[in-house]
Amino acid sequence: MDDEFKIRDASVRKVLDSRGNQTVETDIVLPYSTGRCSAPAGASTGETEALAYPAGGVDSSVRLFESRIKKKILGFDALDQKGFDRLLREVDGTDNFSEIGGNLATALSVSLAKAAANSLGIPLYRYVGGFLRSEIPKPIGNVIGGGAHSKNGTTVQEFMVSSVGKTVLESITLNSIVHRKIGIALREMFKDFSIGLGDEKAWTASIDDDVAIDIIKTAAHEVESEHKVKVILGVDFAASNFFDGKKYKYKENHLSRDEQIDYACSLVKSHGFYFIEDPMEEHDFEGFAEITRKVGSEALIVGDDIYTTNAKRLEKGIKMKAGNAVLIKVNQIGTLSDTWDAVNLATSSGWKTAISHRSGETTDEFISHLGVAFGSEFIKTGTIGGERTAKLNELVRIEEELRD
Ligand code: PGA
Ligand code: ZN
Repeated sequence: MDDEFKIRDASVRKVLDSRGNQTVETDIVLPYSTGRCSAPAGASTGETEALAYPAGGVDSSVRLFESRIKKKILGFDALDQKGFDRLLREVDGTDNFSEIGGNLATALSVSLAKAAANSLGIPLYRYVGGFLRSEIPKPIGNVIGGGAHSKNGTTVQEFMVSSVGKTVLESITLNSIVHRKIGIALREMFKDFSIGLGDEKAWTASIDDDVAIDIIKTAAHEVESEHKVKVILGVDFAASNFFDGKKYKYKENHLSRDEQIDYACSLVKSHGFYFIEDPMEEHDFEGFAEITRKVGSEALIVGDDIYTTNAKRLEKGIKMKAGNAVLIKVNQIGTLSDTWDAVNLATSSGWKTAISHRSGETTDEFISHLGVAFGSEFIKTGTIGGERTAKLNELVRIEEELRD
C-alpha cells in the first residue's frame, strides 16, 4: 500500500444536529488529506435499523472510539473501504451496531471515503460512483406534513413535491415556490394562527390529510401552469407510526388494512401521486405487494422503514415484489459498503433508489454525492432550511461540474 493512503490520525467530536441534539462528527486524516462526516438522526425510525447510539448515548460512542476503535484504524489503508467497514462490524460485534452506535460507524465509514477521494483529488461522487455517472437525482422535498416530525400536523408524515426543471437550480427553486404558496394558503385558512414548521421545515397545521392533499395539489398545479413544468407529487405515510396493530388511525377516521391499501392506491389513481413511501406498516410485505400489483406500473412504491437499507430485507421484498423502489439512508445500516450492497441489489433487480436525508440533519452534504454515485432516481432532502439547502446547493455545484 502506498503510504499516502494510510490513516495517520482519526478523531471524533460532538456537534449539534438541526434539532439541537448532539451527534458525532469524525475526521479521518491521511498524509495529504482529511475526510470529515457528521451523522444525521431519524425520528421515525424503522424497527430493524441500526441503533444510532449505544445505551450510554453519544458520549458512550465517543468513549468507545477512544478506547477501542482508534488504535485499530490507525495505519489502515483508506482505499480499502470494504475492509474498513468490515473492521467496524467486527469491533461492534452485533448485527445492528448497538455496541458502538450506527451513527459513529456511519460517520467513520463516510469520512474514510471522503478522505480517500480527497487524496485522489476527485469528488466523492466520482470516487464512489466512477467516472461515467452523469445523472443528478430529482430533488423531492417535504412541503407539508406531521407524523413523528411535528405534534401539530397531518397524520401522514410528509407530502412532497419534485418539480422537473431544466436544471437542478430551477427544480429546487420551484420546489421552494410550491412550499411558499402552501404557506400562504395555510395562513389564509388559519389567519396566521396554529401553523408552523416541522423538523424538515415542511409546513404543519392541524388539518385533515385530505385538506393537505387539496392544498398541495392546488399549489403544485399553479406552479405547473405558471412555470410550464411538471411537478411530481409524493407522500411518505410512515404508516407504522399510526398503525395500532389493527387499524390505521388517522385523525379523522380509522382505516382497516384493506381500506389503507385502497386509500394509498387512490392517491395514485384519483390524485396523481407518483412517489408513495411506506404506505403500509413495516411488517406488511404482502400489503406493499398488493399496492405494487395495483398501481406499481404508474407509481413508485417506496420502502423505507420496511427495508432500512438492508440488503437481506430487500432481498425478501424483491422476491415478493413488495414495492419497486427503496429509500436509502446510510445510517439505517451503518456503513457505506452495506449501503452499496442494498443499492446494487435494488438496481440490478430493476428497482429504483431514492437517497434520503433524516429528519434531524447536519450541514454535511454527503448524500448529494451518494445520490449521483448510486444513480438514484430521487434525492429526498427537504425544500428549505440550511441543513436541507446544504445538500440541494451541493447538487447545483455537482451539476455544474458534470456540465463542464
Ligand atoms: P426520520 O424519517 O425521521 O427517521 O429521518 C424520515 C422518513 O421517514 O423518511
Ligand atoms: Zn420514510
